[in-house]
Amino acid sequence: MGHYNINFSPTGGTRRVADILVEGLQGEYQQIDLCHETDNIDLNEGDVCLVSVPSYGGRVPAVAIERLKRITGNGAKAVLNCVYGNRAWEDTLTELQDTLEGQGFVCVAALATVAEHSIFRQFAAGRPDDEDKAELIEMAAKIQDRLNIGFNGKLELEGSHGTYKVFGGTPLKPTGNDNCSGCGLCARECPVGAIDAADPKNTILEKCISCMRCIGICPKGARNVDLNLWGMMAEKMAPVLGGRKENHLFI
Ligand SMILES: Cc1cc2nc3c(=O)[nH]c(=O)nc-3n(C[C@H](O)[C@H](O)[C@H](O)COP(=O)(O)O)c2cc1C
Ligand code: SF4
Ligand code: SF4
Repeated sequence: MGHYNINFSPTGGTRRVADILVEGLQGEYQQIDLCHETDNIDLNEGDVCLVSVPSYGGRVPAVAIERLKRITGNGAKAVLNCVYGNRAWEDTLTELQDTLEGQGFVCVAALATVAEHSIFRQFAAGRPDDEDKAELIEMAAKIQDRLNIGFNGKLELEGSHGTYKVFGGTPLKPTGNDNCSGCGLCARECPVGAIDAADPKNTILEKCISCMRCIGICPKGARNVDLNLWGMMAEKMAPVLGGRKENHLFI
């Protein structure tokens, strides 16, 4: 019986939540990082996967769906974890459920959990925090109980199935400035190949998904978005991003 912590986490918030959940689950969970290209993986009935994705505009990031489609469940159990940045997750969990069921997984439980907003970091700043950690560990124990009884039913989730909220992306696309040393790290780490290592100050705008990974990892602090546009968008989004939003467990 294998245990897998499968996650797409460009700036680390999704991964932090997933790692806390794994602490509260039984078994040794092996990491599968969907930020990098993955080989085809064939799982077995009896395997258990925690599958974690951030919500982007109420959807699963398309590249994560593409990489999840290379994993075949063959009856393996899946725990779904959608990590949202203090606004809402809309169809993220139903899209993830539809995808995993289509790949032969049995979905046993789902969570919508909060992490710092990866574009507007002043919202949900520092989350998951100690309060989240305690709550997530309790939720993991409830999920483990469900795994232990061998749940084989149908998980019912709110949200659309089959057709989902449309997310057209955001105009915030990072580019490099003159501090760039040309080290190429951002090109190697961009989940969608939107940076050419030979010309890392530029960004291939049609490919960029605005995940913000390159900003966080650049050792020279050489990448950023247009800060005027960022400021205007942050102000506009403030009413829906404020306050402390909750973690939810659906079983
Ligand atoms: C392009 C983009 C779209 C996002 N859309 C939403 C959203 O619709 N609702 C929300 O609550 N958070 C949204 N967020 C915030 C992320 O879901 C959240 O910060 C998540 O923790 C990021 O995961 P990561 O730290 O693993 O990269 C968005 C972030 C990005 C980059
Ligand atoms: S990580 Fe930073 S310094 Fe390295 S190539 Fe990219 S922008 Fe330049
Ligand atoms: S270029 Fe775009 S897609 Fe690539 S890491 Fe940066 S923000 Fe993410």
